[in-house]
Amino acid sequence: MGETIRLDKFLVDMGKGSRSQVKEAGKKGRVQVNGQVEKTLKRKIDPDADQVALDGEKVLYRKWEYFLLNKPKGVVSATEDKRYGTVVDLLGEDGRRDVFPVGRLDRDTEGLLLLTNDGELAHRLLSPKKHVDKRYYARISGRLPKDAALTMAQGMTLEDGTKVLPGRLEIVGQGENAGNMEETAAEVFLTIQEGKFHQVKRMFQVLGCQVEYLKRVSFGTLTLDEGLSPGQYRRLTEEEVEALRENSVKQREERI
Ligand code: URA
Repeated sequence: MGETIRLDKFLVDMGKGSRSQVKEAGKKGRVQVNGQVEKTLKRKIDPDADQVALDGEKVLYRKWEYFLLNKPKGVVSATEDKRYGTVVDLLGEDGRRDVFPVGRLDRDTEGLLLLTNDGELAHRLLSPKKHVDKRYYARISGRLPKDAALTMAQGMTLEDGTKVLPGRLEIVGQGENAGNMEETAAEVFLTIQEGKFHQVKRMFQVLGCQVEYLKRVSFGTLTLDEGLSPGQYRRLTEEEVEALRENSVKQREERI
């Protein structure tokens, strides 16, 4: 016998509704365990051995979930919010109760966000000791100092005195594609090793620039798919999950 779990929790975790909706479904005889109608949803099942169905459809059991979301602007990196939609809402039916975002992107930031219910991996990826690289694409306005890349490479002190680890700045366009921004607008990639509050915006602020648009394009070994529009998501492959696990261990070993 494997690990057991209450039938109502199993159905809620698999995204089949809230606890009360699931209970209601049970009362109505819509839930079956191994082909038999089961009305007592408090009973325990073994998800690896027992077959659960809702309205005649088999409910697949996934213990761990890993989603790569292209976060759009306007939603918050949280599981619940009174004012705004959340990144978990975007998962729709797949958004089980125990899935949460690994770290945060600002409400106006787009791009790669990992969502999972694997607390241990999330913890390791977010640990400041692990220095998992995060790469951002940014469009900035203002006059970017000539030695900006060097300044960022040396590690900076933010305006409130917070010190940040060295970042890698690549300038990919300056004065080009500026649109209606100032002539001095630049397009850059910045790779940082931490995830301090508004870190990228504050690093540019120190240099006298303003981030106009920010998008995360990679996180550790994960890269944002070109074909994933803002608001879309996909499950990680097993290889990607494995690579993330190794990455979170290796980065620590390399830099100790
Ligand atoms: N840095 C920021 O300033 N904002 C983000 O959303 C992520 C990194």
